[in-house]
Amino acid sequence: MPKVTLIPGDGIGPEISQAVQQIFSAAQAPIEWEICFAGQAGISQSGDPLPEATVRSIQQNRLALKGPLTTQIGKGYRSINVTLRQSFDLYCNLRPVKSLKGIKSRYQDIDLVIFRENTEDLYAGVEHKVGDEAAESIKIITKKASLRIAKAAFRYAASQGRKKVTAVHKANIMKCSDGLFLDCAREIAAQYPHLTYEEVIVDNMCMQLVMYPEKYDVLLAPNLYGDIISDLCAGLAGGLGVVPGANVGENCAIFEAVHGTAPDIAGKNIANPVAMLLSGLMLLEHIGENAIASRIRSATEAVLMEGQVLTPDLGGKSTTTEMANAIISKL
Ligand code: NAI
Repeated sequence: MPKVTLIPGDGIGPEISQAVQQIFSAAQAPIEWEICFAGQAGISQSGDPLPEATVRSIQQNRLALKGPLTTQIGKGYRSINVTLRQSFDLYCNLRPVKSLKGIKSRYQDIDLVIFRENTEDLYAGVEHKVGDEAAESIKIITKKASLRIAKAAFRYAASQGRKKVTAVHKANIMKCSDGLFLDCAREIAAQYPHLTYEEVIVDNMCMQLVMYPEKYDVLLAPNLYGDIISDLCAGLAGGLGVVPGANVGENCAIFEAVHGTAPDIAGKNIANPVAMLLSGLMLLEHIGENAIASRIRSATEAVLMEGQVLTPDLGGKSTTTEMANAIISKL
């Protein structure tokens, strides 16, 4: 049975992680969890936001399911999410955004897949103050990282029968950095002549996605734009409570929802467990347990379709625990 590092995380993390564990256990998913801490929980447990034991566990298992971690705004320790992605070279942040049956949203048939470069760009963390009056953040784009995320996006598009890859950029202003990203995307696009390739400037991309999401398919973006359009796309498909994700490298993968710690609802047992659950299903598929993943997905969709047991973000009045139990009863 594969061992998987489970980082419950901060804020709503422990509540939704518990729900996922219960559902996986009811479905007899063949996984042995190794519980580890990070973020604020890491500090509370051992005084370190990224304890050595957590790093060692991920190194050994090379598979993790992670709840969200708190990052202080404008101060404090560096984002542990970014640190994990960089230290394990999880260069591909894959975020499928698909309308689920039963979710009420203004849009019905959202089916987008975001490939976000996950290790560099402005998230490289190279920044400093220039005296008291200015600050600089350096945007790093390399050929190596841009080529491999472009390859991942096109490989996925070709293997999954997708039709189009859209590169998201701002190369009209950042001619060097985003220009290099586009050069790399074009180089890989040339190897897939049967796929449509197009480029859209990020601000226009935001409007296009809101107005005509059906025109898009696979979206390929550097780190920052990929992060921003992920939340935008989540909004199209019913909100952050239902969109999963994966951080994938050559030798390791960490699965996590797109959303953060949701401090506004943490501790109230009303967080939607679906995004983390679906991230767990991506993990199951990653290790070839497609049948169990599919069973849990069907049970989840059945609960959403019935619409009786939904958390408040989906328009219901139920708790996280009640929603988890409803999914379990459908299994
Ligand atoms: P957020 O994603 O935590 O919350 C945004 C809004 O979505 C809130 O209104 C929240 O209640 C709602 N929401 C999010 N997940 C939900 C769920 N499962 N069910 C129901 N409602 C949900 O974003 P925010 O407020 O910008 O960030 C809060 C903290 O999370 C920050 O410390 C940030 O750094 C961290 N964060 C961590 C991430 C990670 O660990 N991967 C990703 C994004 C943010």
